[in-house]
Amino acid sequence: MTLMPVATRPRTALARTYLMCPPEYFAVTYAINPWMNPAEPVDRDRALAQWQDLRDTFVRLGHTVHTITPEPGLPDMVFAANGGTVIGGRALGARFRYPERQQEADAYLRWFQQNGFAGAALSSQVHEGEGDIVFAGGTVLAGHGFRSDEAAAAEVTSAFGLPVISLRLTDPRFYHLDTALAVLDDGTAAYYPAAFDAAGRAALAARFPELIEASDADAAVLGLNAVSDGRHVVLPAQAAGLTAKLAAAGFEPVPVDMSELRKAGGGPKCCTLELRA
Ligand code: ARG
Repeated sequence: MTLMPVATRPRTALARTYLMCPPEYFAVTYAINPWMNPAEPVDRDRALAQWQDLRDTFVRLGHTVHTITPEPGLPDMVFAANGGTVIGGRALGARFRYPERQQEADAYLRWFQQNGFAGAALSSQVHEGEGDIVFAGGTVLAGHGFRSDEAAAAEVTSAFGLPVISLRLTDPRFYHLDTALAVLDDGTAAYYPAAFDAAGRAALAARFPELIEASDADAAVLGLNAVSDGRHVVLPAQAAGLTAKLAAAGFEPVPVDMSELRKAGGGPKCCTLELRA
């Protein structure tokens, strides 16, 4: 008997619109997550080149990229995912946990208000945008435990009228939900099981018919900080195991090197905020 490969569902790309912020003032001058070490040098030109490559990759894949002007003194502003959550043409601005990033909230809010999201308002709860609020076709996954408040989930429900699945993060290396989980399409996600508690793993198993597990090695290079358009998955080049698993599941992995930005605890997804019409 010949074993046939397991049939995979068709993987269909959908054109996306993203907001990004060039890392002109990128630096690691404080430590608010375990990846950051102010004593380790950062090469800003290299960070800029890696960011430009990510931007070019999105454009080559057919996506639209808007940019926000970076501000001096805000070295983490490159991580646009944290600027807010945008679903159904509505924007909820972020409220940051740490004072080092709090001024970014106003910069992103102003961008939303001036670029078609007139009703945008700041969150009343600590809510670090798409870092912790992950959209999964009709549902929202809300991470908490390190950055966003658990209470932000209720605010997201009322702002967007969508049901929320709350997920507690348990490993400080995976301090934002988007460092531990990537939604690949409505029914498929990749995740690092050890970053969640038993209730979170059960909730994810109930929500996603297809779950791809990342290994310790993949998680340790922020491999899950990936951006999917439904077919192409832009992910850190160092995540070799996850890249192979995605290809086997019928996705097209698109590796990018974000090693310089990883020194601040970020990867491709952290640099990318999706603007959903
Ligand atoms: N240094 C930043 C911080 O700790 C990195 C943010 C990464 N963003 C993300 N969406 N995970 O806040």
